[in-house]
Amino acid sequence: MAKALEGIRVLDMTHVQSGPSCTQILAWLGADVVKLEAPSGDITRKQLRDVPDVDSLYFTMLNANKRSITLNMKSERGKELFTKMVPKFDILVENFGPGTLERMGFDWDTLRELNPRLIYASIKGFGEGPYKHFKAYEVVAQAMGGSMSTTGFEDGVPLATGAQIGDSGTGIHTVAGILAALYQREHSGTGQRVTVAMQHAVLNLCRVKLRDQQRLTHGPLAEYPNKQFGDEVPRSGNASGGGQPGWAVKCAPGGPNDYVYVIVQPVGWEPIARLIGRPELVDDPEWATPEARLNKLDKMFQLIEEWTVNHNKWDVLAKLNAHNVPCGPIMSTKELIEDSSLADNDIVVKVDHPERGEFTTVGMPIKLSDSPVDIERSPLLGEHNVEVLAELGVDAAEVAELQANGVI
Ligand SMILES: CC(C)(COP(=O)(O)OP(=O)(O)OC[C@H]1O[C@@H](n2cnc3c(N)ncnc32)[C@H](O)[C@@H]1OP(=O)(O)O)[C@@H](O)C(=O)NCCC(=O)NCCS
Repeated sequence: MAKALEGIRVLDMTHVQSGPSCTQILAWLGADVVKLEAPSGDITRKQLRDVPDVDSLYFTMLNANKRSITLNMKSERGKELFTKMVPKFDILVENFGPGTLERMGFDWDTLRELNPRLIYASIKGFGEGPYKHFKAYEVVAQAMGGSMSTTGFEDGVPLATGAQIGDSGTGIHTVAGILAALYQREHSGTGQRVTVAMQHAVLNLCRVKLRDQQRLTHGPLAEYPNKQFGDEVPRSGNASGGGQPGWAVKCAPGGPNDYVYVIVQPVGWEPIARLIGRPELVDDPEWATPEARLNKLDKMFQLIEEWTVNHNKWDVLAKLNAHNVPCGPIMSTKELIEDSSLADNDIVVKVDHPERGEFTTVGMPIKLSDSPVDIERSPLLGEHNVEVLAELGVDAAEVAELQANGVI
């Protein structure tokens, strides 16, 4: 069966996580993604290695279904080959530090002159303005995008999330921009520039916290567990952030992830009150309505916890769901990697790799009925030099010479 992006070619100059997470999705959608690396390779090939001399899981889990070529963009011959390559691609994606591609001699005007249909997507830490020239990593974006100031407990330090919203979150935003640009090209005939700043992507994901910042000017945030409010949105622990109150309550046998996150919708109160053995609270005016419960949410979740501590989280999941009460056991990484329903959904996937053997990765979270995804291994460094350079008229003898001269 054909794939959604079949025939689309991506020159992938990304590294680390944000950019590779974007181009991996494009590859899973069917694009031919050629990862162009310095001869030393994407730094993550060697970072956090678990097996000596083998591409790390960091690399293999972010670069599936791609081909790899090496090219020294600081050499004259490297620049010449790159110049020939650009017209053969639809999309160029990079997430170098600010100004890097320009310093290599390729700004947007040069690139679009080489290929007017090129879509050139860049991920940077920041947009225009005072931070423009700053490098950024995941937690820098979380710090400056509103996530850290709003994550954690009010009496604790600002916290980073486990979810990589700055890196992979920005990657997904960039996918959206690239696909829109591809569609617009159908009508305009020309490519365009796509830029996504990690700070902006994180802020987009923290949108509801700016909602609350404005609500704060009209009084305290009643659904927050906090007792006192200043002039900025405080960290609110595990409060749900939405219109329905929620909290993580302890379960048996009391391990670090033996918790269930429970949401109490208005219709949920009656079955919850009965389940926890407090049926008298169903009609008690002090407890019966969401408004009545609002000033004692901590007490409400305490009552629920007095019941959940005697059950394991899976039991609580089943019992609450039997009454349509939204809830979620806190799933550990071990539970996730071993979860058979996630494997059945092809979202936890086993892949074979010629050097490391079989490993597990996270598959494609976006399912298209007419564009199936086969998760394939990441490429070895420069594995496709010969076949990609052949398209530029470079023969095998010259490939060897380029290698000897440090061009590839
Ligand atoms: C992630 C980041 C902080 C890493 O910084 P870094 O390791 O110093 O990497 P840079 O992107 O600045 O590039 C380093 C050098 O490699 C060189 N390089 C990269 N690819 C090359 C190639 N194919 N050939 C030759 N040189 C190459 C660059 O030219 C640069 O050298 P220069 O500083 O002399 O110009 C930085 O790339 C960044 O801020 N990126 C944008 C935001 C982002 O995506 N961050 C999240 C990453 S998950």
